Amino acid sequence: MQYIEKISPIIKKAGEIILGAKTINLEEKTNYQNLVTEFDKKVQAYLVKELKSIYPEYGFLNEEDTNNNELKEYNFIIDPIDGTTNFIHGLQFSAISIGIVQNQKVLAGLIYNPYNKELFTAELNHGAYLNNTPITISNRSFKEANIGFGASPYNREYLSKTYQLVEKCMETCRETRRFGTAALDLAYVACGRFDGFFEFHLFPWDFAAGLLLIKEAGGIITDFKGNDVDLYHPTTILAGNHNIHPQILSYLKAIL
Ligand code: IPD
Repeated sequence: MQYIEKISPIIKKAGEIILGAKTINLEEKTNYQNLVTEFDKKVQAYLVKELKSIYPEYGFLNEEDTNNNELKEYNFIIDPIDGTTNFIHGLQFSAISIGIVQNQKVLAGLIYNPYNKELFTAELNHGAYLNNTPITISNRSFKEANIGFGASPYNREYLSKTYQLVEKCMETCRETRRFGTAALDLAYVACGRFDGFFEFHLFPWDFAAGLLLIKEAGGIITDFKGNDVDLYHPTTILAGNHNIHPQILSYLKAIL
């Protein structure tokens, strides 16, 4: 568990930057719906500095400076604040997500919610954990399922299909939820709070760490065609237990 031991204190310290935010100044990235704050940048700068000092030979794929990302064989894929809109609106439900990847393989993943101090971790072939306690995917049936989803807010051309799929699920499942942070949504599937999750357009920093958490917790995570996802490009994401994933995959066939 070499990565988790070394990176856990760093991600927790970065969480203090989020908790210390009082006045939040906003900047538009592409428009008023896609924002970045000084705290996203501060958290990212802190993480890059600390991680570079331990792993100088690793590359970075960071949400907040995509122009300066330099990829190597080993890379960190970082979302400094996943759930930026939640953060801006004071919802206290956001997370820092760090994936450590070697080419197309996720070696380790950490997702930290500083508000309730929950740290989700996974290292390849060593299982998934919440605050050091092992976690597993649920085995609920579709009827019993609580399914999370994301609405691809930066790519609103997927809205109608997203809500068609939500409607289809809601006809039979127990409930659905839209929480606003894909990293925590995936962590929640890994620990069985959600039984499935889908989103039509996610970036690598939203899902890299969560992908390993789901796999190590015994779940399935693919794109909407059931294939492995590319870790370096935006993609569709479908995650769930062995009852939920195939069921949603079959609904998707009718919608896509
Ligand atoms: C976003 C959140 C949101 C999801 C979006 C993501 P950000 O990340 O995870 O839940 O629906 O697709 O891009 O912008 O808050 O880091």
